Amino acid sequence: MIVFREKKEAHAWVLQQRKAGKTIGLVPTMGALHAGHHSLVTHSQQECDATIATIFVNPTQFGPGEDLAKYPQTLEADLEGLRNLGTDAVFVPASPTAMYLPDHSTYVTPPIVASSWEGVVRPHHFRGVATIVLKLFHLLPATTAFFGQKDYQQSAVIRAMVEEFDLDIEIRVCPIVRDPDGLAMSSRNRYLTAPERSCALAIPRALQQAAEAFFAGERRAVVLESKMYEELARGPVDGVDYAVIADAQTLQRQIVIERPAVALIAARVGSTRLIDNHLLSPKNRD
Ligand code: PAJ
Repeated sequence: MIVFREKKEAHAWVLQQRKAGKTIGLVPTMGALHAGHHSLVTHSQQECDATIATIFVNPTQFGPGEDLAKYPQTLEADLEGLRNLGTDAVFVPASPTAMYLPDHSTYVTPPIVASSWEGVVRPHHFRGVATIVLKLFHLLPATTAFFGQKDYQQSAVIRAMVEEFDLDIEIRVCPIVRDPDGLAMSSRNRYLTAPERSCALAIPRALQQAAEAFFAGERRAVVLESKMYEELARGPVDGVDYAVIADAQTLQRQIVIERPAVALIAARVGSTRLIDNHLLSPKNRD
């Protein structure tokens, strides 16, 4: 596996692969890699001739008071994991200034789908995500980029940006990887104490209950949302930012579900903020 620290070298490698007629899969990450990230690499390897991952804790997507300073950094283990998977290359910018000049001032105004849910609780978050992802798409002109359904709204933002900016890249959104107890894997799960983790399990349970009621024929969003809040309260999970049923594409709240929808939850358990979701469309029955 080749590890690039410099933009120019990583860019040249991708161009070289493209010239050789290869398809390239790009897997952007912020490191602290787990099986969820690894699954994106595996999807890329199944679909593309070569795979490049990136590891960069992107400062512009963290708000003041968020966990940028304490974001977990496990670079050696991350590289080892990627190497074991057979990843062809990884780009690890040498420092934040390798990606952003000290006086960086150009940002992407994210699409409308960024304005609800996470966009309300974390203003500027999607501006930072869209900006770094656009930079990565330019630097590493892959044929396909792989994202996780775990960050459902993020993938909707990226899809919309690609469409609205006519970017020449395919976007794949891969299924959520969960621990055996049902919790969606996240770099932040390591901060949960054992009692907090057992409370946090109310999140996937609440989504599951909403999905079961939906598949049993319930179409009133308010009924599904009440079920989620009841289950979260049983956790107990008190710090619920939202637990809603939204249109799977626009992310607007639905009253009666008539199109593919998604149940979205964001909640704080202790000082750890977790997000999770479940698609509500007939083909996503588990
Ligand atoms: P990060 O949180 O490191 O996640 C990188 C990718 O892994 C994202 O596409 C995310 O959705 C996916 N992922 C995380 N947990 C997952 C799980 N349990 N199952 C499946 N996929 C999972 O998301 C970011 O970084 C950043 O915002 C980034 C896109 C890299 C831009 O900085």
